[in-house]
This record gives sequence, structure tokens and C-alpha cells, in this order.
Amino acid sequence: MSGRLAVELAGLRLKNPLLAASGTFGYGVEYERLMDLSTLGGIVSKGLYLEPRDGCDVPRIVETPSGLLNAIGLQGVGVRAYVRDVLPRLERHDTAVVVNVCGDTVEEYAEVTRILEDAPRVDAIEINISCPNVKKGGMAFGGDPKMTHEVVAAVRRVTRRPVVPKLSPNVADIALFARVCEEAGASAVSCVNTLLGMVVDVEQRRPRLAFGTGGLSGPAIRPIAVRMAWQAARAVSVPVIGIGGIMCAEDALEFLIVGCRAVQVGTANFVDPGVYERINAGLLSYLDRHGLAGIGDVVGTLAYPGETK
Ligand SMILES: Cc1cc2nc3c(=O)[nH]c(=O)nc-3n(C[C@H](O)[C@H](O)[C@H](O)COP(=O)(O)O)c2cc1C
Repeated sequence: MSGRLAVELAGLRLKNPLLAASGTFGYGVEYERLMDLSTLGGIVSKGLYLEPRDGCDVPRIVETPSGLLNAIGLQGVGVRAYVRDVLPRLERHDTAVVVNVCGDTVEEYAEVTRILEDAPRVDAIEINISCPNVKKGGMAFGGDPKMTHEVVAAVRRVTRRPVVPKLSPNVADIALFARVCEEAGASAVSCVNTLLGMVVDVEQRRPRLAFGTGGLSGPAIRPIAVRMAWQAARAVSVPVIGIGGIMCAEDALEFLIVGCRAVQVGTANFVDPGVYERINAGLLSYLDRHGLAGIGDVVGTLAYPGETK
């Protein structure tokens, strides 16, 4: 892979700006036989609590126009099993490992992070304060500036690694939440998680998901996600990682141009595991076409009415 795609992110050097988004790529090892994990800039793990969790009842996923509505409910093996069984298997892959940390309480977020602090293979902590599919924690933290500050500060206190809160799009003022995260010590912010949605089975007159509501992802949310990433990038000086509906190089470029230093690819993983190779090739060809040396030359170059750049 060409060094032209390398990016620097909160002290980490990623070989390219593409990370697999949390919850759409398992713990990474599930994809070992489908692709070379070393072609990824990084892998963000499925969300992890202290203990294993079963998640929501089925059905948990329903297709929508250009999107996916899910209420998985953060099913997972728990942080100790992840450290014991998964991290050693990721050792041989040359890619950044970011762990998505969850909690029902501020203390749980801190405890999960503390356990990861002793594990060698972890490069950064992503704090999931934005999952819409759980009754406690999740979006309840990410929708309240005071709680957001508290969780981010608590995690910051127990780790030396980069701390990356993942913002919820289910708020009126995303810039405010990005600033709160920066003030609480975030090294970067991920922007955004899924949008709260609902699909109704009109014959049964009940929600199609067992949980009732779910999180909407995929191309359907991309224009909203790009707008929010743009607002967040203008509000803070720490890097922003853009997420939402990226299917091809042009989609990734939208996020980079509005100011994101890197991007995550989620729902596209369910459609095409070859998406990373395809996007990286498209980014290189864009650099060639525009006579640019590296992908960093694209970041934050949006020409906006009334501004010079
Ligand atoms: C099935 C599914 C599971 C997800 N699980 C998590 C999770 O565990 N933690 C998290 O922070 N985000 C989770 N997300 C949100 C994604 O990481 C991403 O933010 C969102 O899907 C938007 O990106 P996309 O449109 O590229 O999918 C999940 C999304 C989907 C579709």
C-alpha cells in the first residue's frame, strides 16, 4: 500500500485512512479468511462491556431504503474474553486495533478501559456513548453534555492511549458535544453512530424490530453524517473520524474534504468485504487526478460559500 494514503491520528500512524466501524466487523478475526486485515488502516472492535451480553431479541435487523435498521443491543463476549482470546490473534496483522468500550455506568466504562490498559495490542479506545439500542448507558450518556464530559474524563484518567468518544447524531447541536469531548480530554472524536429510527409492519401493526426502535445506518444517513462531521471538525482542533454510509471512494472523500482525518466503513462490510481495497484504489486515483501528493492534502479543503477555502 502506498505511503501516500498514510495519516497521523492522535499520535497513531495509520497506513491509510480507512477503519472498519464498530459492530460491523465483529472483533476483526472473523474476517481473517475473507481478506488481508493488514490492508486496513485499523479495526474498531464490536462494543465491549465488562461482562458477556446476549443483546436484544430477534428480529434485530431490517433493511430500509438505502439503509439498515438494527437493534443488536451490544451483544458481546465481555472485555476479559476479548483480551484473552481475540487480541493474541490480532497480533500478526499489521493494522491499528481500536477497542469500542461500553458501560451501564461511568465506573464500568473506566473499568473496561483499565482492563485493556494491561493488554499490549490495543492502540486506542473508542468510547461508545451513542448506541441507541440499549436501555442504560449508550445514547443516554451521549445525549447529555454533562454525562458525556463525565464518561470521557473518567476514561481519560485511566489510560495513556488515545481516547476517542463516538458522538451520537441524535442531538440538535453536534458541535457542542464535540467541544465537550475535547474539553474532557478526548484525543479525537468519531462522528457518527446510527440515527434513531423505526420501521412498522403494517399487517401486524407492530415494530419490525423486537426492541421497537433501532439505529439507522448506510447510505441513507450519509448526508446527515457529512453535515455533522463538518460541524464537528469546525468546532474542535482534535481530529474527527467521519462515519456514515461510506460505500465508495467518493463517499470517503466527502468526509475527508469537510475536515475528517480518517473514516470508518460500517454497513458496507455486509455488502462487500472488498470495499477497502476498492476505496483505497479510488483514493489513490483521486490524488493522481488532482495532482496531490498525499491524502492529507485533501483533508479540510472544502470550498464553502463566503470562505476563501
Ligand atoms: C449491525 C450494527 C452493529 C453496530 N454495533 C456498534 C457497536 O457495537 N458500537 C458502536 O459504537 N457502533 C456500532 N454500530 C454503528 C457503526 O459503527 C456506525 O457508526 C454506523 O453504522 C454508521 O456507519 P455506516 O453507515 O457506515 O454503517 C453498529 C452498526 C450496525 C449496522
